[in-house]
Amino acid sequence: MNTEVRRAADILRAGGLVAFPTETVYGLGADASNAAAVARLYRAKGRPDAHPVIVHFSSAEKAFEWAKEVPEAARRLAARFWPGPLTLILKRSSRANDFVTGAQDSVGLRVPSHPVAQELLREFGGGIAAPSANEFGSVSPTSAQHVRGDLGGKVDLVLEGGSSEVGIESTILDLSGAGPVLLRPGAVTKSQLEEVLQTEISEKSSASPRHPGGLERHYAPKTPAMLVPPYLLDAEIARRGAAVAVLAFSRPDERVDYWIRMPREPHAYARRLYAALRELDGARCGAILIESPPETAEWDAIRDLLSRAAGQRAG
Ligand code: TXA
Ligand code: MG
Repeated sequence: MNTEVRRAADILRAGGLVAFPTETVYGLGADASNAAAVARLYRAKGRPDAHPVIVHFSSAEKAFEWAKEVPEAARRLAARFWPGPLTLILKRSSRANDFVTGAQDSVGLRVPSHPVAQELLREFGGGIAAPSANEFGSVSPTSAQHVRGDLGGKVDLVLEGGSSEVGIESTILDLSGAGPVLLRPGAVTKSQLEEVLQTEISEKSSASPRHPGGLERHYAPKTPAMLVPPYLLDAEIARRGAAVAVLAFSRPDERVDYWIRMPREPHAYARRLYAALRELDGARCGAILIESPPETAEWDAIRDLLSRAAGQRAG
């Protein structure tokens, strides 16, 4: 047993805050049964109060204790995708208090696969409430170094776990209503979920529960970002000159000093995305131009994130 992990579990039991790695992004964790600890978590993140937070567990069995009823669909998805980058919204049991659910009658549950997260969750034993370990609304952290830069002084301990392998947030599926609703696209795709459930999944509407991932500007760098279709990239660079930073699939253009070339494969792209946005943000240019990814389904989650980073609605 890693002694840092044991220390982390002790800090959580004492009501403290621990940032820890997951395969999606780093989380800022607090004991999900401790109202004061969760209140501290919201303050550290600068997050508005009424927003619900995901509760993490070491196993599906433990996670489901926080649900009032576990529909067959949840069992099937858990068997297939947990541990992994999927969050299920279920009707809550009495264990899920108002201060983690935003006073809704549902709760968000996830079993992460990262070995350090697993070790911490097993050692702690209970549920860990954890939003992404960044300031509310900004780019999520995919390394311990990102977390220290964002929240360093406000966290009791940051557990080291390398760079997050998935690199973007978990897919969120709401199973608390009449039919399954996709609240946030992520690494697990809608069609993968539909294949397991053998039923069609609808996408979120304004009637779905609140979730900050649904705000128009989110996951955003400080520099204004703009999505540019491939065929307009050249003209946009010509118009703006050297004062831009570019995230693109194509080779660097001579006229631009800060250029990050991204992989054409969506998983590899996701893994690099947040670190790349942070790097370009650090270049302090007037704007970040982001070449739009393809319109195909495998890019859904990334298109959604990028349009929020750019403060535009997802298409
Ligand atoms: O990959 C992830 O999910 C990461 C890692 C740390 O697990 N966590 C994460 O948490 O992205 P956060 O707080 O940044 O985003 C969680 C989303 C929010 O949009 C929140 O409102 C939504 O989940 N959520 C949580 N519980 C909910 C509920 N009962 N009903 C609807 N949305 C819920
Ligand atoms: Mg977040």
